[in-house]
Amino acid sequence: MFHLRVPLLAILVNVALCQYYEYDDQPVSMLGPSGPNCNQECDCPISFPTAMYCDSRKLKFVPVVPTGIKYLYLQNNQIEEIKGGVFDNVTEGLRWLVLDNNQITNAKIAAGTIDKLTALEKLFFSNNNLTEPAIPPSKSLDELKMMHNKISKFPSGLLSDKENLTTVNLQHNQLSSDSIGGAFKGLKKLLSLDVSHNKLKKLPAGVPSSLEILYADYNDIDGVGAGYLNKLPVLQHLRISHNKLVDSGIPAGVFNVTSLVELDLSFNQLKSIPEINEQLEQLYLQANQIDKFDLASFCKYVSTMSFSHLKHLRLDANNITYSNMPPEYSNCLRLASDIMFE
Ligand SMILES: *[C@@H]1O[C@H](CO)[C@@H](O)[C@H](O)[C@H]1NC(C)=O
Ligand SMILES: *[C@@H]1O[C@H](CO)[C@@H](O)[C@H](O)[C@H]1NC(C)=O
Ligand SMILES: *[C@@H]1O[C@H](CO)[C@@H](O)[C@H](O)[C@H]1NC(C)=O
Ligand SMILES: *[C@@H]1O[C@H](CO)[C@@H](O)[C@H](O)[C@H]1NC(C)=O
Ligand SMILES: *[C@@H]1O[C@H](CO)[C@@H](O)[C@H](O)[C@H]1NC(C)=O
Repeated sequence: MFHLRVPLLAILVNVALCQYYEYDDQPVSMLGPSGPNCNQECDCPISFPTAMYCDSRKLKFVPVVPTGIKYLYLQNNQIEEIKGGVFDNVTEGLRWLVLDNNQITNAKIAAGTIDKLTALEKLFFSNNNLTEPAIPPSKSLDELKMMHNKISKFPSGLLSDKENLTTVNLQHNQLSSDSIGGAFKGLKKLLSLDVSHNKLKKLPAGVPSSLEILYADYNDIDGVGAGYLNKLPVLQHLRISHNKLVDSGIPAGVFNVTSLVELDLSFNQLKSIPEINEQLEQLYLQANQIDKFDLASFCKYVSTMSFSHLKHLRLDANNITYSNMPPEYSNCLRLASDIMFE
């Protein structure tokens, strides 16, 4: 009997972890019987009594949340409104709020709801009708996802007290460079920022030096400020594909920084290959107008110790073929296992 209990416990722990991390594919049958302290519209599993599942049930409003709930799942409903009072008993307890796939507008978020949540760690508010961000006062916020809304303004300093914020997803909104000019002020631990599919004319200003991932694909960016990357000493992944980059917007050496591992400049209007650092491993330049292969963009000089660490290089859909590569390229690009011309 005893040795049966250990695996059973392991299974229960696994189920709990599953619920914790993969909220959106949670089959209701796994939840078990509902606890006593639950809104009747929702399910609160006895095995995980701090979670309330109200997802995918055609709700029009956010239900009243009972005392003790820390994880609240409201995704995939038809919610248009957050009425006053619904969070009154969890203002200091709620940690996760998942509102993805609803139709909430800023005008219908009552005062005293989101603006009273002082312990929230994760706010998932994607695929709604927000025109500006709804940010709780919690200093513990670590993840903010508001993609696929209609956000066009982002007041300066709104996030400045979120000392633990690591991930911000704002892709598919209507943000301009001016509107996010002060949005990231004061952040100290931000690792990942996605502002793809917006209306930016330049890379976001004022992003913290902790940033490791910056995605800005599908905007109207035509250049990168000299020294922009020098202020981001641990940035590893930079994507600026599907923009309007031209050679004149790329100052000499702007991408020659040692931290970058991946640089995506595909689908732009570049005519030459920008200088990159020896440490870069992946460079995407497909669908530009590149018509020459300048080895000095990769290696100013080559020695036993000094050579490019590039592994993947895409040059397809440009005005260039394999025959444009100088014969001595293999010394410089000695790790490039994958160079694509077409
Ligand atoms: C909210 O808290 C009050 C006071 O503790 C309690 O009387 C009430 O039943 C709670 N409501 C819910 C929905 O938990
Ligand atoms: C939300 O946006 C969708 C798509 O633009 C629209 O069809 C819907 O009517 C909007 N709902 C509200 C409540 O504004
Ligand atoms: C930030 O995270 C650290 C480490 O997990 C924690 O000790 C601290 O309390 C957090 N700060 C806030 C305001 O939640
Ligand atoms: C990149 O910068 C380093 C350090 O300044 C320099 O030695 C190297 O030649 C540069 N690489 C290219 C390809 O310009
Ligand atoms: C580049 O384009 C020019 C004219 O647009 C053309 O004459 C030339 O053959 C092209 N070169 C390559 C390498 O495709």
